[in-house]
Amino acid sequence: MTAVTARVPAKVNLQLSVGPPGADGYHDLVTVFHALALFDEVTVAPADTDSVVVSGEGARSVPLGPDNLAARAVAALVDAVGPGVRDAPGVAIEIRKRIPVAAGRAGGSADAAGALVACNELWGAGLSHQELGEVAAKVGSDVGFALLGGTAVGLGRGDRVTPALAAGAYHWVLAFAAEQLSTPAVYAACDRLRAGRAGQSDAGGEADHPGPPQLNTALMAALRSGEPAELGPLLSNDLQPAAVSLLPRLRQALAAGREHGALGAIVSGSGPTCAFLGRDGTHARDLAVSLAGAGVCRTVATVTGPAPGATVISAAAAGGPGTRPAGPEAGRPAGRP
Ligand code: C5P
Repeated sequence: MTAVTARVPAKVNLQLSVGPPGADGYHDLVTVFHALALFDEVTVAPADTDSVVVSGEGARSVPLGPDNLAARAVAALVDAVGPGVRDAPGVAIEIRKRIPVAAGRAGGSADAAGALVACNELWGAGLSHQELGEVAAKVGSDVGFALLGGTAVGLGRGDRVTPALAAGAYHWVLAFAAEQLSTPAVYAACDRLRAGRAGQSDAGGEADHPGPPQLNTALMAALRSGEPAELGPLLSNDLQPAAVSLLPRLRQALAAGREHGALGAIVSGSGPTCAFLGRDGTHARDLAVSLAGAGVCRTVATVTGPAPGATVISAAAAGGPGTRPAGPEAGRPAGRP
């Protein structure tokens, strides 16, 4: 094999319930992930030394050294399988970004999943879905879901993922901010806001002690119905107040979406991207035009969900004529079934 390319989806959290921080600093989560048909592409090829090049959306703010999540994923795979798995001293990783770099590492989880799937194929390592998932969890909380795709429940750090029963296709508008937000900063702001409110409740204000997070059963029922009108009002994100407190302009973007008839309007994950649910494809396109015109964000995109997880889309054999093209038979999910 001379090069393998994988395609990996963006995601939105339909529910993101955040418990108190644990001893390791991570928060216990209950989340519902939903993969979106907006894809980065990751190509890996044998090389004399390790390298990462990034092109496309926000490429300049992606780290190119060993800190790059795709490079860390490759290192984690070598650790898991043993150095003998490599067919050359290094790996050249090429990332073509269409998922905007919204936070320091956002979209990086997708690229890590792409690198795992692509190297698994390049080296013929033969790791199963589950084995790749175990490596993914060591790289970052969202990497396991980027492998799986579709709609899934995430527990723990968000790294324990189980596919969810979900019907239908949904039409979303994503509004990308000009600014970036760091994920740890947003979690820290969430803790501060909660501590502040708990202090007020001690002085007679409203209580806000987060209990253990729970899966929203009404949201799961809405997903089974496949009805956007049922799903929209149930979208929730505990990190939203924190993201809005750090970037108050997000409030205007969310309000503009609701004004233009979005069935649901939320900050996606730790932000700053906002996601709006349309009634159908036409409504989503109208919503995107209105949001772009309202001047509340840097750029907008219409996307559908759910989308498949990390998938090999082409593989070029050594001495072969070129790439095996993408297509239903070539595009297959990560690992052995
Ligand atoms: O796991 P990952 O490196 O993707 O997480 C990035 C950061 O997000 C962590 O360093 C932590 O600050 C925060 N985080 C958290 N609780 C989680 C997931 C992430 O506090 N469940």
